[in-house]
Amino acid sequence: MTGMGKWLVTGAGGMLAQDVVARLAEEGESCVALDRRALDLTDAGAVTRALAEHRPAVVVNCAAWTAVDDAETREAEALRINGDGPAHLAAACRELGTVLLHISTDYVFSGDAEKPYAEDAPTGPRSAYGRTKLAGEQAVLTTLPDRGFVVRTAWLYGAGGGNFVRTMIKLEAVKDTLDVVDDQRGQPTWTVDLADRLVRLGRAALAGTAPAGVYHGTSSGETTWFGFTREIFRLLGADPERVRPTTSAAFARPAPRPAYSVLGHSRWQQAGIEPIRDWSEGLSSAMPALVAELQEGNP
Ligand SMILES: NC(=O)c1ccc[n+]([C@@H]2O[C@H](COP(=O)([O-])OP(=O)(O)OC[C@H]3O[C@@H](n4cnc5c(N)ncnc54)[C@H](OP(=O)(O)O)[C@@H]3O)[C@@H](O)[C@H]2O)c1
Repeated sequence: MTGMGKWLVTGAGGMLAQDVVARLAEEGESCVALDRRALDLTDAGAVTRALAEHRPAVVVNCAAWTAVDDAETREAEALRINGDGPAHLAAACRELGTVLLHISTDYVFSGDAEKPYAEDAPTGPRSAYGRTKLAGEQAVLTTLPDRGFVVRTAWLYGAGGGNFVRTMIKLEAVKDTLDVVDDQRGQPTWTVDLADRLVRLGRAALAGTAPAGVYHGTSSGETTWFGFTREIFRLLGADPERVRPTTSAAFARPAPRPAYSVLGHSRWQQAGIEPIRDWSEGLSSAMPALVAELQEGNP
């Protein structure tokens, strides 16, 4: 089912976007990749012109302000990218009948639940970043009730950007022991696994077999940052006992981290798409490429 129309990926210089573009190429889909220099989402006129020029069937919005802590003191700037940007895109998509897949985050939730958040669970962001991302979600869902897809992800890592796994691989090489927080639960998610689901979801949307609305694009299963790090060490052939549990109180940061970021995946069934595999399987597939990338000397 290839060739149902062109795809356009925004924020194409980013970590997730690079794997979305690669996945589309592997799948034989025609794709225009626009990084921030080619398309600044805060420029409404530029967004309209880019869509009119390329007339994509599907837009995947990977552009975002992702500096979670900086957003606390620069919320207005973050809102222009995370809230107004998707609003401009959604308006342009509405004019052209384009499907919009918009990437969002677990930070739209308060993080104090005790069971996985359903796609329609009440939101309640505790951080500026979360508030700006929620504004983007609302713009997409309101403007595109039939063609807007919000895909929330979390704990993302991939070869194309700085991330937790890369940091831990580097630290394993230089530290005897590592203290890692054991009181935040989530679902580590490989960008390649998410990219695959985004391609399938876009195709299903074009085929009319996926209902518009919210999906949760995270791995199955759950762990803590501590459990995640132990598994990284194990896959590196290092002793997991070198990783020791600590609490979030030891790592105070400007923006509060959700304690519980486990997302439910039941909506995928309505689209006929399997949720992403268990986080540990994704990690074990991802590790060789992540290690090789560091050995090649990428920063
Ligand atoms: N990483 C995670 O753990 C995580 C967790 C939950 C959700 N998410 C969401 O997943 C999506 C992808 O994140 P990522 O990790 O791939 O982030 P990333 O690597 O920071 O990529 C974001 C990209 O957006 C670009 N961008 C920023 N402002 C822009 C603008 N005004 N116009 C166009 N492009 C702009 C950035 O360009 P510059 O670098 O030039 O600024 C960057 O290339 C985002 O929606 C993020 O909120 C990520």
